[in-house]
Amino acid sequence: MSKGPPTLRLDRLLANLGYGSRREIQALAKNGRITLDGEPFRDADKHVPVTRDLPERLKLDDKAIDPPPGLALMLHKPLGVTCSHKEAGPLVYDLLPTRWRMRDPAISTIGRLDKETSGLLLMTDDGALLHRVISPKSHVAKRYRVTLDRPLNGEEAGAFAAGGLMLDGETKPLLPATMETLSPTEAILTLSEGRYHQVRRMYAALGNHVTALHRDRIGGLSLPDDLPAGEFRLMSEADLAAIFAG
Ligand code: URA
Repeated sequence: MSKGPPTLRLDRLLANLGYGSRREIQALAKNGRITLDGEPFRDADKHVPVTRDLPERLKLDDKAIDPPPGLALMLHKPLGVTCSHKEAGPLVYDLLPTRWRMRDPAISTIGRLDKETSGLLLMTDDGALLHRVISPKSHVAKRYRVTLDRPLNGEEAGAFAAGGLMLDGETKPLLPATMETLSPTEAILTLSEGRYHQVRRMYAALGNHVTALHRDRIGGLSLPDDLPAGEFRLMSEADLAAIFAG
């Protein structure tokens, strides 16, 4: 017998998506505000199939519901916004719909960018995807556009490419990284690992100082030109595949 898609009680599904308590969902359903394939879905104890196309089928007040778990998005992180609750200032989570803060499973960032770094940041509620992207075994490279305080001295690309550079306070040398010079004070740096403040510390180790940092690519996935700072977009299957094809 073939196994159908996973199902979940409507009240639990919508409560997990942050639409309210199970009691509130029960009331919304009873009042005919929830429809499945255009028909009122009045009994919130009943199960619905949890498939990728559910948002097109299940509506609240005629509006598509949010994506079910398995959500993955790309955010154009602006400057001045933090990835961690431990740091002061507005959070990247504040750039998502408020309801999404109540989601279970919760959404988290796939890796982090510093408060003063902008660019491509991935977020998901899918733990397996998160681990796959950050796992060293996946070899997902990250590309940064770097602006420096002082002109490059010509030694940096070679020093990074050789690998073995030791960052302050660490015991394990860095893996090789690729650097392309754009101008005397600008470069593109591609890393295959992600250590704390890595780019800033790499240039600091060579006596320079990063004044601006922007990530424009993860694996083969580029930050879209038409995604303004502060906005996000759900990732398609093609976007997800691109991450691992870089
Ligand atoms: N390296 C840094 O120094 N900062 C970032 O945000 C990312 C990489």
